[in-house]
Amino acid sequence: MAEIKRIKTGISGLDKLIEGGLLENSVTLVSGGTGTGKTILSMQFLKKLAENKEKVLYISTEENEKSIKEGFKIFGWDLDKLKIEVMNLGPDELEEEWEPLLSNKIDREKVKRVVIDSISLTGIYYRDEYSTRKYIYRLISSLKERNITCLLTSEVPENEKSLSKMGVEEFVCDGVILLQFLGMGGKYERGLTVRKMRWTNHTQETHPYKMVKGRGVVLGK
Ligand SMILES: Nc1ncnc2c1ncn2[C@@H]1O[C@H](COP(=O)(O)OP(=O)(O)OP(=O)(O)O)[C@@H](O)[C@H]1O
Ligand SMILES: [Mg+2]
Repeated sequence: MAEIKRIKTGISGLDKLIEGGLLENSVTLVSGGTGTGKTILSMQFLKKLAENKEKVLYISTEENEKSIKEGFKIFGWDLDKLKIEVMNLGPDELEEEWEPLLSNKIDREKVKRVVIDSISLTGIYYRDEYSTRKYIYRLISSLKERNITCLLTSEVPENEKSLSKMGVEEFVCDGVILLQFLGMGGKYERGLTVRKMRWTNHTQETHPYKMVKGRGVVLGK
């Protein structure tokens, strides 16, 4: 049997709670409300890998390349120096079938790790729910066939029990990491929960985390 390879997340304190990291060639959903750290956490994952000289790609559906690079510079990460390629898919691109383009790029350039931030807007081309669901299912399935390790972010409104916009993403993905603001007696605390991780004996607790400039998401008080 081939050795099972786990990919370190780069999130301080997380890997030891998930048997050493994410399974290679898996797709994990990072789900959470606004401002919970989805973008920073997913870039942190790529940063760790880029430092190990892996070919990584960050796809943004919400912010353009310039504003992402400028934002992360303020945060202490120079994406050009780190060799993290940023690709923006704006409304025009999202109106088209862009998945074949992405698959070609991944295959041609031998990209190993991909982030799509966020998956929530990728189905806007489709007018009805059934087609959007089918599209998202197809997109995630295609990523799973590509020998890449992937993080997809998904926005969920605060106080909602759902883990994704269309309600299919969490079932198709191999893992779900949930980021939340938790109300604690008038005080808010951030909490990270591994909601699912296939074939992994993962933590069952919600772990407090902080966001730290230059370091990203750091688990622990
Ligand atoms: N230097 C910093 N120190 C501490 N916390 C910070 C710092 N910079 C950003 N943050 C926190 O990170 C949050 C933004 O994180 P991020 O953009 O990853 O969230 P998100 O879940 O992707 O949000 P969005 O809904 O905009 O996509 C800010 O709202 C702030 O709380
Ligand atoms: Mg974001």
